[in-house]
Amino acid sequence: MCETPSIRPTAPELTAAVLGTEIDGDPLTIHADLRNSAPVVWSDDPPIWVLSRHAEVAAVNKDTASFSSASGILPLEIGLVYDEPPSMMHTDPPEHTRLRRAVAAGFRPSRIRELEPAVRKHVDDLVDRLPVNVPFDVVEDLAAPLPLMVMCDLLGLPSSDWRIFWEWSDSVVPGAGELSEDERERLRGGLETLLRDHIRARRQRPSADIVSDLMAAPGDGAPLDDDEVYILLNQLLVAGNETTRNLLSGGLLALAQRPQQWARVRQIVASGDSAALSTVVEEMLRFTTPVVGFMRTAATDTEVAGQLITAGEHVLMLWASANRDEAEFGPDASELVVDRSPNNHLAFGYGVHFCVGAALARLEAELVLTAMSDRFGTLEVAGAVHNSASTVVAGLRKAMLSGDSAVPAGASPGGPR
Ligand code: HEM
Repeated sequence: MCETPSIRPTAPELTAAVLGTEIDGDPLTIHADLRNSAPVVWSDDPPIWVLSRHAEVAAVNKDTASFSSASGILPLEIGLVYDEPPSMMHTDPPEHTRLRRAVAAGFRPSRIRELEPAVRKHVDDLVDRLPVNVPFDVVEDLAAPLPLMVMCDLLGLPSSDWRIFWEWSDSVVPGAGELSEDERERLRGGLETLLRDHIRARRQRPSADIVSDLMAAPGDGAPLDDDEVYILLNQLLVAGNETTRNLLSGGLLALAQRPQQWARVRQIVASGDSAALSTVVEEMLRFTTPVVGFMRTAATDTEVAGQLITAGEHVLMLWASANRDEAEFGPDASELVVDRSPNNHLAFGYGVHFCVGAALARLEAELVLTAMSDRFGTLEVAGAVHNSASTVVAGLRKAMLSGDSAVPAGASPGGPR
């Protein structure tokens, strides 16, 4: 057995890296130190192995047989025992396969295509309301409402309810928002009532939305019962909101900070090159990596980069760090390069748990870049930028941006595209 690495970051720094909290405002520096000096390192508090390089993170992510999701996916779940898995993310095959099949049906390509006109309309409505040459908050005015509106469409609920959903989703993401425990409890209760009522209504009258898809028998498995459907809906709401919000806001902030990259995005949009636009979105995903990292638990004794991980020990896959690994992405790994290719980022995870909503998130990002590029010739930071306190999803609570019109003087920037 190999020795535990002797070069270690100091304990508070490692704890910060594990929990995703900030020290001196820069967790990315801690990640870089880990990659360089201790890519597989033990943290005492919380007790977990921390992986920071692309190669090891991808290998553990892929190896579902050796590394289980059933004992929790976040370090703050260490020691918790569940009667039932709280989400699909907390299951391993074959149970995961049954749930995944049901959920994947709701995200099949034809369903995403059906959603596209509604997503495009939400994007255009939101972007058309952004003022030209006047600062706006890209989180409040665009990145937060859009995924919530889309989620309402996906679930078959009125998209005008998005503000309520924002509060609800904050109530279930640790560290998101500034809510007291009582307030969280009250909001969680409200969400449960609404979703359970919605499930009952769909049992009686199925419709063309994901709730009815989930209720339909998933192929060769048993149909999902109402509790399982409720848990999955709850999970979609959480998994699809803050993540997409931070992709959009973090990506636009990064572009506003880099005028040449923004000019290149506008060139790509104007050219109508859809492959190049996808490349931009992949780079935004890599650069923002909204989900910092998830945990697995060793099911058997396994070696990772020469280090023995003993059965029962926890392992943190730092996706945010893996996505800045120079060994994978080259010397400019810490920069946003909108033409980057190849780009084997891990922002959606890897393997059997690969994000089921990836196509939807990518669609939202492509439509936002297109609409923003049609409206704003320039983009710049124009006021406060506040990071989110979430230890799970890295992102922004507020980011003031401003831009001048993309439309020649005399034409209306708010007019029809
Ligand atoms: C930029 C946006 C998004 C990011 C960065 C993201 C990231 C991730 C990651 C890293 C995982 C892997 C979890 C694991 O390995 O344990 C995941 C899984 C998942 N995501 Fe996303 N996600 C995004 C958007 C969405 C959307 C829009 C939805 C749904 C509406 C969604 C639903 C899910 C679900 C249900 C899973 C669990 C899949 C499974 O366990 O098989 N995500 N996501």
